[in-house]
Amino acid sequence: MKFKKNILGIGAGYVGGPSMVMIASKCPDYRVTVVDVNPERIAAWNSDRLPVYEPGLETIVKKTRGRNLFFSTGIEKGIQENDIIFVCVNTPTKTFGAGAGMAADLQYWEKTARQILENAKSPKIVIEKSTLPIKTAQAMERILSSGKKNITFDVLSNPEFMAEGTAVSDLENPDRVLIGSRETKSGLAARAALVEIYTRWLPREKIITSNIWSAELSKLVANAFLAQRVSSINAISALCEKADADVSEVAHAVGTDSRIGAKFLKAGIGFGGSCFKKDILNLVYLCRFYGLPEVASYWESVVRINEYQQDRFIANILRSMFNTLAGKKICVLGFAFKADTGDTRESPAIAITRKLLAERAEVIITDPRALANAAIDLAHEKGNIRYVEDPYEAARGCHALAVMTDWEEYRKLDYRKIYKSMVKPAFLFDGRNIVDHRKCFEIGFNVFPIGKPALTRF
Ligand code: NAD
Ligand code: UGA
Repeated sequence: MKFKKNILGIGAGYVGGPSMVMIASKCPDYRVTVVDVNPERIAAWNSDRLPVYEPGLETIVKKTRGRNLFFSTGIEKGIQENDIIFVCVNTPTKTFGAGAGMAADLQYWEKTARQILENAKSPKIVIEKSTLPIKTAQAMERILSSGKKNITFDVLSNPEFMAEGTAVSDLENPDRVLIGSRETKSGLAARAALVEIYTRWLPREKIITSNIWSAELSKLVANAFLAQRVSSINAISALCEKADADVSEVAHAVGTDSRIGAKFLKAGIGFGGSCFKKDILNLVYLCRFYGLPEVASYWESVVRINEYQQDRFIANILRSMFNTLAGKKICVLGFAFKADTGDTRESPAIAITRKLLAERAEVIITDPRALANAAIDLAHEKGNIRYVEDPYEAARGCHALAVMTDWEEYRKLDYRKIYKSMVKPAFLFDGRNIVDHRKCFEIGFNVFPIGKPALTRF
């Protein structure tokens, strides 16, 4: 069959996978190929056990795979055969050299740029889907124009705003799609080609077009604003605990102001995930680079408050449990950085488990989707850790429960049954405020929510 467009996604991760799957699903007359350097990842995409857990994703993959969606390790061939290339490779925080711990590590992105240059035999539209520092498109253009083949490349910025756990619905019905381009004749033509793809399932009004630098920066700013809201409410949760206010009531009262809005005001143990911290640190680095230290420290405080919230949580556990955790069993309920994903990157549960182990507690971890990743994250930790799938089994014989992930099923656990199987006095530290605190207190637990008065018998 001859396809109307040939599209390539480079990087078959949490973003490249689902976003290319959605294009294939909405555009059956386009051929979509997703390539990756990691053969295991590609094999998993071609198997019944996808490498990424996202509600609803498997059904769409089954419908499209082998029809107009293909997963492959053939990066060079992919570049030769496709006209539109989405670059979805990872851009983690740099761990070495200048800017270590702050700046984005662009080595995977640059390798991709060079591979495109080496293998292209016809004009390409190259789309930045990864989150990148402002002005990266210029570096991409410089690399792509350094060849001798006289091929034209148009670079666009089309950052992705989907969140994990809701990737399918976010991609199917996003608040907006952002496309930044050069305002030249060929830049505008490339932009129009990308708009055409998205209008196959989205109304034109949802597609925002802008200059290329605004698009790159908007992605970092959107994540910084979201994370800032979480840090703002978490900072207030500390005050609520001191002053007997209830952070959920405060968030509700504040969030009903339509100018503020209700979303992203849930206090907890702090934000995790592969992007918030990385993108804010990248923004901070850029501000310092451009000589704006005050702006940099304003945004850096969002990350500091996030760390403070985790430190507060562990200090509260220690203080409440008579200042010693040595030899005590703590059940960590949930390890994923949020519900509905198996992803544990930057999960607050990692730092908190490490701190529990440092206090020589025995840690029993349970999670419906993330145990395999938890075991990888903690592989080098010294201490007593067990991974138990069944939450009731995990809690048996423990001194305390620590809720780390807002899994819906943790709301509905039989806490009476759990309480009976635990060592007394039994403690419940609800890092997500998802459990019925009053009910658990009546069952017998000493309950420590976030940003609300503790319910204890001492
Ligand atoms: P990921 O690590 O899950 O996936 C990246 C993939 O790229 C990996 O499978 C890796 O093997 C592959 N890769 C690296 N170098 C390659 C190369 N040279 N050629 C081919 N493949 C290569 O990362 P992710 O979570 O999908 O994030 C990717 C980008 O998208 C990041 O910039 C991130 O900030 C951004 N983003 C992520 C999310 C999210 O929810 N995870 C949302 C929006 C934006
Ligand atoms: C976030 C953004 O929401 C996406 O728009 C963006 O595309 C993505 O980052 C990215 O660039 O990677 P994600 O990290 O998948 O998505 O998940 P979120 O729902 O934003 O949650 C992030 C963290 O904040 C989680 O640990 C979550 O539990 C926490 N959070 C969120 C709170 O503690 N309180 C809230 O009210 C909301």
